[in-house]
Amino acid sequence: MPYAHITGWGMAAPEAVLTNDDISKMVETSDTWIRERTGIRERRIARDSDLTSTLGVEASIKALKVANLRPTELGLIICATSTPDYMFPATACLIQDQLGATKAGAFDLMAACSGFIYALNMAAQAIRSGSIKSALVVGSETLSRYVNWKDRNTCILFGDGAGAFVLQGSEKPGGVLSAVMHSDGSGGDLLTLPVGGSRYSATRSASQNGRQYIEMDGKEVFRFATRVMASATQEALDAAGLTVDDIQWIVPHQANIRIIEAAARGLKLPMDRFVVNLDRYGNTSTASIPIAMVESLEKGQIKPGDKIVMVGFGGGLTWGALAAEWTGPIPSKGHVRPEQYRALGRVRSIVRRALRFIEGLLYRREL
Ligand code: ACO
Repeated sequence: MPYAHITGWGMAAPEAVLTNDDISKMVETSDTWIRERTGIRERRIARDSDLTSTLGVEASIKALKVANLRPTELGLIICATSTPDYMFPATACLIQDQLGATKAGAFDLMAACSGFIYALNMAAQAIRSGSIKSALVVGSETLSRYVNWKDRNTCILFGDGAGAFVLQGSEKPGGVLSAVMHSDGSGGDLLTLPVGGSRYSATRSASQNGRQYIEMDGKEVFRFATRVMASATQEALDAAGLTVDDIQWIVPHQANIRIIEAAARGLKLPMDRFVVNLDRYGNTSTASIPIAMVESLEKGQIKPGDKIVMVGFGGGLTWGALAAEWTGPIPSKGHVRPEQYRALGRVRSIVRRALRFIEGLLYRREL
């Protein structure tokens, strides 16, 4: 059975920075309050032209470059997101088209902030089963579009961004070692985005009912998160036959520094074993773990051979953790330039549309 190795990584963050001081001009809050209660200093905000798909494509191109893999070699694309471009088509399909990943299946996965862990596990399982050889997992969000900038309980927390991993199968042991996934729908009302679904469709009732924004019971989510972060990490370690002493890094969902500190206490680990960058990005939901990973790799913290645990929680309620042995890029010949595939992908997309149009005309004539 092949092992699923993480061989490429990339991130994308919108340029615009929104500081705590900026927010304190919108609602009654302060930089000190936000920093002390959350650890967040600033977050990135998407421009109108930034979409969940475009941020996802930017991160994916970087990840493919690191992996030295052509988009056409991908067998699967999973986009974990809570803020897709559309209800359908899936954002993963938009990414597939823009990358020119012509041989990949593509779908979105919704598990709120735990989505990236879930998606990584699904992709790794598909590789381990032998059904595909490589996959792209994207976590991408434009949460700022759904933040109520008048609600100080939520608007201080969230930011936009994307991260992507390439996974490849290899007979060499390592890569994803174990994963656990959990859910508890009885807590679904603690963290919701009602708009766009069948209960509060955008056309009918979301704005009339004031349900177009992220809603959260912060205290309850906080309590839940502090309970599950350490236990899920421990479960993933047990499943991989590891102990906390065997791992070099824990990469947690970047929601609140106090939640990460509680996890550290639960696991009896010092904070310097946790990758933290929420001060600069806030909570980017499915993108938070890959963005933290990419920055840590770029700083040279995580090295090939290191054992790590990624752990997350989110709306649903959902939570999960994944243990991995870090591989790094698999040495390969040639120099792949995924940006060229993007340009070719645009042309291919136009040609395909034209062919579909002609096919439609011919088909109509036959009827
Ligand atoms: N500025 C100033 N005061 C504030 C602010 C603010 N931005 N927000 C709340 N307060 C006030 C409250 O009104 C309250 O005042 P009161 O005592 O007079 O009623 C006081 O501060 C304390 O409020 P708490 O809610 O107890 O503050 P807490 O320490 O719990 O921090 C926070 C709130 C930051 C939201 C915290 O509960 C939290 O981080 N919860 C988890 C949220 C989370 O991680 N969500 C994402 C999940 S992942 C996903 O799926 C997207």
